[in-house]
Parts: sequence; C-alpha cells; structure tokens
Amino acid sequence: MTDPLVTVLGGTGFLGSFIVNELVKAGYTVRVACRHPERVTLAASESVEKVGCDILDERSLSRALKGSTAIINAVALYNETRTLTFDQIHVDGAQSVARCAREMGVDRLILISGIGASSESASKYVRARARGEVAARKVFRDTTILRPSALCDRHGGFVSALEMVTQLPVIPLFGRGTTQLQPVYAGDVAAAVHRCIEMPGTAGKTFELGGGKTYTYLECVNLMLEHKGTRRAKLPLPFGCWHALAALLSLLPEPPLNRDQVILMENDNVAGSGCGTFRDLSIEPLSLQDVIRR
Ligand SMILES: NC(=O)c1ccc[n+]([C@@H]2O[C@H](COP(=O)([O-])OP(=O)(O)OC[C@H]3O[C@@H](n4cnc5c(N)ncnc54)[C@H](OP(=O)(O)O)[C@@H]3O)[C@@H](O)[C@H]2O)c1
Repeated sequence: MTDPLVTVLGGTGFLGSFIVNELVKAGYTVRVACRHPERVTLAASESVEKVGCDILDERSLSRALKGSTAIINAVALYNETRTLTFDQIHVDGAQSVARCAREMGVDRLILISGIGASSESASKYVRARARGEVAARKVFRDTTILRPSALCDRHGGFVSALEMVTQLPVIPLFGRGTTQLQPVYAGDVAAAVHRCIEMPGTAGKTFELGGGKTYTYLECVNLMLEHKGTRRAKLPLPFGCWHALAALLSLLPEPPLNRDQVILMENDNVAGSGCGTFRDLSIEPLSLQDVIRR
C-alpha cells in the first residue's frame, strides 16, 4: 500500500503554511499546490512536493490532485479584480476541486470557508463562501467544512493588523469598537484539519472555529496596547466613514481594506450554534491574549 498523500491547495498561504507544517510533523506525505509553489517557505520544505496549479484551470487541477488520498482547499481571494471574482474562486473553484476529488475517488475533502458564511449576508465575499460550501457538497457530499474566525499568529493575520493600527497616534475604531470577535490561532485551525483527516466521523460535517475567548474590537486594541506598554487615544468612527474609505481605497491595485471587510466588522464574528466546534475535535484553542503573549 502506498503512503497516504495529502494535497494542500493554497499551501503557501498564511493558513496553508500552518496546515502543511502540521501534517509534515505528523508524518504525512504532503503536496503543496498553488500558482507559485516556489514560495513554499517552510522548515520542512524539502519533504514537501510542490506543484503549480490554478484551481480555475481544470487540467492543472487534475494534475495537482492526482494520487491524493485527502485534499485540503485553503485557497483564498480577498479582493476582487476586473478579471477575478469571489464567485470564480470560492464557488466555481470550490466546486471544480470537489468534482475532481470525486472523480479521482479521494477519501477526504476539507474545504476552508469562513465563520458566519451565509447566503443572506450583505457581503459578496460572505455570500460566495456560503454558495461555495453548497457547490462543493453538491458534488462531494462528504466535504468537511471548516469555518475559521479571523486568523492570527504572533506576528501575522489579525495580530499584525492590531500591531499596525496601534502604531497610529489616534486609533480609529470600527463604530464604537463593540463588534464581538473571536480571533483564532492559525496553528489551532491546522490542528483541526489534522484531527478531521484522522477522524472519519467528521466527514460531511461543518465546524465553526473560534479562538478561546471572545473580545470586542476595542478590547482587542486595548490588549495590544497593554502588551506594547503604550497608550493611545481612540476615535469611534461610524461605519459610513469606513465604507467611504473602502470605496476610496478600492482604486488601489491591492486595497488594504475593502467593502466586504467593513461589512464583516459591522457584524459579530463568533462561532455560532448548530455546527461542530474545537471541543468536538478535542482541541482547546488559544485566546488572542495567549497568542499575543507567546
Ligand atoms: N485570513 C483570515 O483571517 C481568514 C479568516 C477566515 C477564513 N479564512 C479562509 O482561510 C483560507 C486561507 O486563507 P489565508 O488567509 O491563509 O489565504 P492567503 O494567505 O491569501 O493564501 C491564499 C493561498 O491560495 C493560493 N491561491 C490563490 N489563488 C489560487 C488559484 N487560483 N489557484 C490555486 N491556488 C491559489 C495562494 O497561492 P498562489 O497565489 O501562489 O496561487 C496562497 O497559497 C481561505 O479560504 C480564507 O478565506 C481566512
């Protein structure tokens, strides 16, 4: 019998790198598939197979997935462009991956989605995530869906956003800073992927993965200020102003903030009911404070 091969689509990304590291450490044979596979920057990079692949190109997708026993789809698109839409990556792409997985008789497919994925959302991004989940399950019924909250690491993701914003002389708050968030350590989400691969009962299930503690945005900012040992004035800024700013920034080729991200900050972003959680995977997730202090 050949060794199980796990292919991580988007394995060079922020979360993808954690997943690849986790699986390599656990002894899996891992293949990273993305458009620029040379960007693999892992200590374990020598034991990882790298394959060029665009999930929108079915031929390259089939090549990349060939021989896989499990597939993790951690491909992301945060800013639409004139030629690339959320629907293409998160709906059509997710479905192509699922179709390919079914045709190849792959055992497990894990789709990384996002917390609060809903077809009713005002955000085009969030709606695409919800439709992508349905599209994937339509062709690969047992797709396991993981919906992480805002990802973080000691100096990455949500923590680096907090580091940046707390450098400003006055910190603008999203509204009054009362939106509830549950930032999650990317390493914990990678551990969840690992557990799902090893627990057949997770096939076809959905998990919402939030960190160990819920905070308001203002509390997150204060945690970072406290950690840095500095003080800053904070300025509550109505969401209308953030939308105007996002509209202005959309003129840039890589906007640092877009309309969909503002909508995400308008709504509480915590693990909901009706889905599995870290507890069902026997994982105790770190809180934002744990991550900042690590
Ligand atoms: N970051 C967060 O806070 C957060 C929160 C909730 C959910 N998520 C979800 O978690 C997943 C991973 O997010 P991330 O932040 O780690 O993303 P990321 O750092 O932006 O990485 C995206 C990955 O996708 C690959 N990729 C992009 N387009 C591709 C295509 N057409 N074909 C093949 N590969 C492609 C990229 O490599 P190439 O450019 O080389 O192709 C890269 O490896 C996504 O589903 C995201 O929506 C993220």
